[in-house]
Amino acid sequence: MEAESTKRFWYAMTLLILLLITICILKVSECSRQNLERKFFAEQRQLALNTLRKDYVFDILIFTQHWPYTVCAQWEERHKGNECNLPKIKNSWAIHGVWPTKYHTIGPLFCNDTWEFDIKNIEPIEDEMKESWINIEKGTPLYGLWKHEWEKHGTCAATQIVAMNSEFSYFNSGLRLFDEFSITKIFQQSYIKAGMSYKLEEIHEVLNRSLGNNFAIVCEKDHVTKEQLLFEIRICLDKQLNLHSCDGIVMRTNEFRNSEEIVTNCKKDQDIVYPSYNWLIKKQWNRNIEEQHAQNKTWMYNVVNVYKLMKLIQWITL
Ligand SMILES: *[C@@H]1O[C@H](CO)[C@@H](O)[C@H](O)[C@H]1NC(C)=O
Ligand SMILES: *[C@@H]1O[C@H](CO)[C@@H](O)[C@H](O)[C@H]1NC(C)=O
Ligand SMILES: *[C@@H]1O[C@H](CO)[C@@H](O)[C@H](O)[C@H]1NC(C)=O
Repeated sequence: MEAESTKRFWYAMTLLILLLITICILKVSECSRQNLERKFFAEQRQLALNTLRKDYVFDILIFTQHWPYTVCAQWEERHKGNECNLPKIKNSWAIHGVWPTKYHTIGPLFCNDTWEFDIKNIEPIEDEMKESWINIEKGTPLYGLWKHEWEKHGTCAATQIVAMNSEFSYFNSGLRLFDEFSITKIFQQSYIKAGMSYKLEEIHEVLNRSLGNNFAIVCEKDHVTKEQLLFEIRICLDKQLNLHSCDGIVMRTNEFRNSEEIVTNCKKDQDIVYPSYNWLIKKQWNRNIEEQHAQNKTWMYNVVNVYKLMKLIQWITL
């Protein structure tokens, strides 16, 4: 009798230890994902520091406009609870940045550490910036996007582009480029409408009519709907701010293949969704329902498990 209950005791202890080990493993795998993200940003920083030690020479400027509803969907996907600032004017593209670029590489970046962003310098154009160069990622510092763009890219442009030789002229030039090469207008004057899907060639053909073949089309994958979304149009310019071929630029994702003459990371054999405001609202709605389901499930799951554990302990100790 005595021997039987010691056996049961050790059996219970073994189970408990196994349970603890499982919990530890789950925790560690979550941490390693966060570490991967941290590593990615550290690498970006290192890349920047490497370019700092070399020179700030670059070949072209990439003027990037992004589609707010895709930016928002990606931001919300990245972390639970993320919300967006969207431009007041619906169906309007927004500026992401103006990036000095050397062929076959990224950057140069962070060319002048001592030239810090100061909001006072752009007060005259702040209202226009708030609409056209809006920081969609709500919850990040108010001027975070502008500070980041200035310190990472603007300080490099300022070294070689006369029209961008100060913080004010850098951002003001960005706004003027936004008027001159408006993706909003180009699409409005074509059959490309938000809320529909298109072939890569269709989008390229429409843009090519206004811009010549001097742009890159960037897509992002939506991990919930599994669609590929139109994300950015990057326009290439020479140092006099005239249109220039994008051949030789690096795309952020490694899916990039220079398919004939279309510079893109989008998959050629899959339609490109150009999401509308309603598309975004619908996705947010579905996401809320799913989160509720998931919460209810884990709640139920925990109750059931505690019950099972109690039963087990009861069985062992009685
Ligand atoms: C770096 O910025 C400072 C202003 O903070 C400026 O005086 C200096 O000339 C800049 N250096 C270069 C190399 O552009
Ligand atoms: C793009 O436009 C140029 C004229 O600007 C034309 O020569 C070229 O064939 C067009 N490319 C495509 C793929 O339509
Ligand atoms: C989750 O549970 C609550 C009650 O606990 C219920 O009102 C709600 O409808 C449930 N949500 C879903 C999506 O099942």
